Amino acid sequence: MTQTATVQNIDEQTQLRDELLAGLRRTQKTLPSKYFYDDVGSALFEDICALREYYPTRTEIGILEHNIHDIAARIGSRCLLIEYGSGASVKIRLLLDHLRGIAGYVPIDISAEHLLSAADELRAEYPKLRILPVPADYTLEFDLPDIEFPYDRRVVFFPGSTIGNFTPEQARDFLSHIAETAAEDGGLLIGVDLKKDIAVLEAAYNDSRGVTADFNLNMLVRLNKEFDGDFDLDAFRHSAVYNAAVGRIEMHLVSKHEQVARVAGEQFLFRAGESILTEYSYKYTPEEFAELAAPYFNVESVWTDQKRWFSVQYLAVRQ
Ligand code: AVJ
Repeated sequence: MTQTATVQNIDEQTQLRDELLAGLRRTQKTLPSKYFYDDVGSALFEDICALREYYPTRTEIGILEHNIHDIAARIGSRCLLIEYGSGASVKIRLLLDHLRGIAGYVPIDISAEHLLSAADELRAEYPKLRILPVPADYTLEFDLPDIEFPYDRRVVFFPGSTIGNFTPEQARDFLSHIAETAAEDGGLLIGVDLKKDIAVLEAAYNDSRGVTADFNLNMLVRLNKEFDGDFDLDAFRHSAVYNAAVGRIEMHLVSKHEQVARVAGEQFLFRAGESILTEYSYKYTPEEFAELAAPYFNVESVWTDQKRWFSVQYLAVRQ
């Protein structure tokens, strides 16, 4: 339990502990990738985005910049823009600057603090924009705020290829929830990372400065700090390998030797070379992604970079 835990988040803290312990008890030990993003992890992720080897962020921004007029035309006027994940970035500003007569902006993020400070910054920059932040875990059920102004359609913005963190089955489920949120006549503007040369993929998750390794190991730092763990950080190493059979990067924390670690009052044995799976990052071809989304969405536009490394896609909800 953190020292700053307050009464209203004790339940969440208990739920998280149960989830973490359940993952560590499995044959293939796992930790949920949403657990990366505390303050330290979020800052490390921003550093990752600026790395030479990590192509997704700059490639996605390039695609948005090059095609922003086309994208704005696709989305149309007077939309209610709902962003899944924090809106602190240059990406959301591009949209806010170019969408025609945007009716309102609803950012949703799991970190309330992060969300509210990002919303305050945007309010200062866009004083006329209606901003309705929703602190919530968008992978769970959440309510949209009451919208007391007119708009023509809802458009969900889900950049960064975070969809890759779900298995295809989970992704399909999640897309069905997005389709419900976007509702009739709505759409989804989504960033989807594409299949490519394995060396390029693996370098993106094994950067030479070791930032991704620190990001991965921060999971154990958190367990030590927040759940009274005693993980020896020097006894685990970062590993990220592309599993071509299923089309995903897998990030692991590998135990360098046999050891026992304790967390939340429970002991876990690690054999030498045994790992904790911390993240998947699925890569799709445009055809594979269209097929995945097909039960709920029709892909209307796919924008890519010259190397076809990344895509931004507009999907319309099927009626
Ligand atoms: C934010 C989930 C898209 O999978 O590429 C970056 C997270 N993990 N480096 C990704 C991540 C390691 C990132 N997503």
